[in-house]
Amino acid sequence: MAEGMKLLSQDEHVKVYDTGERVPCRDCGSAIPVKLTVMPCMGEMKAFTGKHEICDECSAKYSRQEEDRIHRERVAKLYDASWLGPRFMDTSFDNWNKRPELDKKSVQKLEMAYQVCRSYAKGFRDAKLLGQGLILMGGPGAGKTHMVAAIANELISQLTPVIFRPVPFMLKRIQATYKKNAAETEDMLMSQLTGCDLLILDDVGAEKWSEWVEATLFTIIDERYRQLLPVIITTNCDLKELEAAIGSRNFDRLIEVCRFVDIDVPSYRIAKATGKEVSS
Ligand SMILES: Nc1ncnc2c1ncn2[C@@H]1O[C@H](COP(=O)(O)OP(=O)(O)OP(=O)(O)O)[C@@H](O)[C@H]1O
Ligand SMILES: [Mg+2]
Ligand SMILES: [Zn+2]
Repeated sequence: MAEGMKLLSQDEHVKVYDTGERVPCRDCGSAIPVKLTVMPCMGEMKAFTGKHEICDECSAKYSRQEEDRIHRERVAKLYDASWLGPRFMDTSFDNWNKRPELDKKSVQKLEMAYQVCRSYAKGFRDAKLLGQGLILMGGPGAGKTHMVAAIANELISQLTPVIFRPVPFMLKRIQATYKKNAAETEDMLMSQLTGCDLLILDDVGAEKWSEWVEATLFTIIDERYRQLLPVIITTNCDLKELEAAIGSRNFDRLIEVCRFVDIDVPSYRIAKATGKEVSS
């Protein structure tokens, strides 16, 4: 039966021929060769080349689409767990405005901050090995959270677990675990904070100092310091105020392992509201 047909492959048990017949791919319509498989011990059978009558190209396309879907699902889960929330979902280095309306000094400051944060995200693998983080300092609306969200989104898109926590809210959630019948336990919240690849603490120093605040932050910062796990913080405070707000032991550790990023420029929120903002 296989006489005159082109032999495509053979081994000890199976010979595969091209029958010369063609069927259209269900998706793109291209011709799929119908093959004849001959197994001397079992006889002959015809088989389509592509799975479910789709050609190899379409089959590969579906595998890639499936991989993309799985990737997107994982990214969405990591994003959810990060607590960044809907506002910063699409925040990236690409939608960062260089703010040409500002004075030269502020434009340079922003450019420097942008470069440092961007390089940090790109070289995160090295930063992680060394346990290195960043301290972004600047007034309200300067773009600190935007910058750290851009870092987080870039890393999350590569499936790196990042946890983002506005500190006042994080502390309230921890306090809530002390209540009777609390839904969460302190251990649950702490293990997220101490175990992730990158922890971003937003608005450090917005909470007034207390012994409890200092001790709670110390549990997190010291554990990550010892495990060489990086922390990024953003703050409205200057150095003195930061030390006073978090206590010298926390402050000391952070300044050892974090690079300063000065992003103290006029508020973008105000620039937008007053129509001063110019797109770059
Ligand atoms: N250079 C910029 N380009 C584009 N958007 C910006 C820029 N700077 C800030 N924004 C946007 O302005 C808003 C305020 O910025 P952001 O939240 O990052 O400020 P912040 O420094 O964290 O302020 P705060 O100390 O009050 O938390 C956000 O919506 C942010 O995306
Ligand atoms: Mg902020
Ligand atoms: Zn096809």
